[in-house]
Amino acid sequence: MDLDHLPRHIAIIMDGNGRWAKRRGLPRTAGHKVGAEVFRTIATYCKDLGIDYLTVYAFSTENWKRPKDEVDTIMRLLKRYLLEAIDTMARDNIRLRFLGDLTELPQELQDLAARTNAISATLDGFQANICLNYGGRDEILRAARQFARECAAGERTPEQLDTALFERHLFSAGLPDPDLIIRPGGEKRVSNFLLWQCAYAEFIFTDTLWPDFKKEDLDAALLEYQHRQRRYGGI
Ligand code: FPP
Repeated sequence: MDLDHLPRHIAIIMDGNGRWAKRRGLPRTAGHKVGAEVFRTIATYCKDLGIDYLTVYAFSTENWKRPKDEVDTIMRLLKRYLLEAIDTMARDNIRLRFLGDLTELPQELQDLAARTNAISATLDGFQANICLNYGGRDEILRAARQFARECAAGERTPEQLDTALFERHLFSAGLPDPDLIIRPGGEKRVSNFLLWQCAYAEFIFTDTLWPDFKKEDLDAALLEYQHRQRRYGGI
């Protein structure tokens, strides 16, 4: 692997937790618990490699349809992670950011997110972005609505809208686009993840289920990424 040519921003759809658990005769929630551990390991590894941003899909706008105990478990795992982060992020110089509409999440999680945001504002290191109650279409609709409101208020004209201005209205405002999107778990689809931002991303799909995903799987993805030619529509 060429450590001088790593992606600046990696995004991951952490898929396969439920199947991993089922294959072991365990409840689906057991897969999410291991999945949260794997997230910790892979985030630390990305930081150690010198990657600037890691964005993960932790809870989509559609995941509310899941059974209540599964939703509750994911929220509990997030809470535990944020409590740990509050104690360690300054020491490790790790910033956290959330993409999505947090107002529908339990108040306790919103408060913890606000605390990690405040700590992040004092740091300048590696940044983990956690997509929570996030949907790509929802993000684009909100941006369009907000821009329309600015036009209606006479603050902008439709002609002013370009890529850069639109991006300032997205949850991801200020973030570089992901260079590499990895989807473990065997499915080969985007599932409403970073729809705007993935325009020129390289995709890697792997059959490994997220709870089985190891640093070596990230190494393999990075090696494949380094063999891709990115042309951005040119030749
Ligand atoms: C997709 O697998 C995974 C999720 C919907 C939840 C991901 C959440 C975590 C890993 C826990 C909390 C995260 C952090 C950042 C601490 P699936 O359940 O759809 O798997 P399946 O396709 O096998 O059913």
